[in-house]
Amino acid sequence: MFTVITGAQFGDEGKGKIVDLLAEEYDIVARFQGGDNAGHTVVVGDETYKLHQIPSGILVGTTSLIGPGVVLNPFSLMSEMNLLQNRGVSVTSETFGIDTKASIIMPYHIALDTLGEVSRKNKIGTTKKGIGYAYADRILRNEIHLGDLFNEERFYEKLDNLLPAKKEMIQKLGGNLHDLFPDEEIKRLLKIGRELEDYAADVSYEINNSLRAGKNVLAEGAQGTFLDVVHGTQHYVTSSSTVAGSACTGLGVGPSQVTKTIGLVKSYVTRVGNGPFPTELEDDTGRHLSEVGCEYGTTTGRKRRCGWLDMPLLKKAVNLNGYTELVLTKLDVFTGLETVKICVAYELDGERIDYPPSMTEDLERCVPVYLDGDGWDQPLGEARVFQDLPQNAREYIEFIEKITRVPVSYVSVGPKRDQIIKMDIHRQKDVPCNSMNRKVF
Ligand code: GDP
Ligand code: IMO
Ligand code: MG
Repeated sequence: MFTVITGAQFGDEGKGKIVDLLAEEYDIVARFQGGDNAGHTVVVGDETYKLHQIPSGILVGTTSLIGPGVVLNPFSLMSEMNLLQNRGVSVTSETFGIDTKASIIMPYHIALDTLGEVSRKNKIGTTKKGIGYAYADRILRNEIHLGDLFNEERFYEKLDNLLPAKKEMIQKLGGNLHDLFPDEEIKRLLKIGRELEDYAADVSYEINNSLRAGKNVLAEGAQGTFLDVVHGTQHYVTSSSTVAGSACTGLGVGPSQVTKTIGLVKSYVTRVGNGPFPTELEDDTGRHLSEVGCEYGTTTGRKRRCGWLDMPLLKKAVNLNGYTELVLTKLDVFTGLETVKICVAYELDGERIDYPPSMTEDLERCVPVYLDGDGWDQPLGEARVFQDLPQNAREYIEFIEKITRVPVSYVSVGPKRDQIIKMDIHRQKDVPCNSMNRKVF
């Protein structure tokens, strides 16, 4: 079985928690895109782990692989590995592998990302991790692969070819070359490269062989659908393909192998960084979602913007990813709200539309049309079966299933592993949507 999990929104949907939960059923968990811009939180008992590059399956001992579609920061990977090992998590060459063709995020990529954001008029609000510049170099065929760090001569040959243009770019953007290319850092990079050689893998080969042997592989996405470099809200996106199809190219697995695609949907929407967000709330409800949901970036600590669930965007996410299941997270955060709204359509230029316009500039002008439902006061953290949920919460879930035509397989009601409801996706849907006081569809 080959399952792909992606974020259905703008990232931070709770992928870390759900991958950790599902990892026990899988032999391999593999990351297929992005880099250390990702921040995946996993809560195990009283311990909280924040993973940036290592797949979330590592905590349950599932073999964890980083595919060639990823851009890799060896410095932060090494500290992540050390941090896990210091906390008693086993990260050995038996259980962890990195594809030799993962592209390296070089110090100049990080410098350029930082300088680029400063000089950019329409700021994206990147994580300043060098992601865009590392992917640009891959497309320009100017990248350094992990495997290049294993061969000092080859590495310096490539670097010497690349450096003059990088220095020129940095100088043009007002950067300081002396600080940016200390020899020490390059030496440290090569040292880390030598240490990482033990973990070098051909991820496509390993996964295909495992699938042939009847094993289960889970592909873990980073970021979210609308941060996709092709299908997202350009130019406010990341630089990789974040949709499910990217798991095939990013890992080297053919599309015929995909068994399931799971979409992670937060019960509301959050976004870090700039870009359109039709349902954004800047009122007390927005503050409730932000505070109760602890909506602060895992990687940068920035406050996440919060808003109501957006069905036009979710319908597009279903199309872009071909989801066969949805997992709904953070439903517990709604407790205490008198009214829960869902955006079911937009008004654009006097017309009502129920699917997002393609152009970012048009999405920016969309005014959400809401369907209101009653909220609930009961805390949901102890709910373990669907029937434990208040009726209004059950209706919320079933409304999402009805509009997307995709079953919800799990509902998450807290950050901990056991705060989860496994849904019977073949159940009789017996809850009418009668508390929704305005019907659009
Ligand atoms: P990811 O990037 O998609 O892995 O998500 P993040 O880890 O960046 O952000 C999700 C946050 O929500 C983390 O702090 C999780 O511990 C937390 N979380 C996950 N699921 C739930 C849930 O169902 N309820 C609550 N209250 N928190 C959750
Ligand atoms: P996870 O995997 C939320 C956002 C940044 C910025 C835009 C581009 O934890 O869901 P980049 O540094 O990638 O060039 O920044 O993308 N971004 C994320 N937002 N979650 C993430 O990852 C993100 N990774 C990047 O805030 O708006
Ligand atoms: Mg995150």
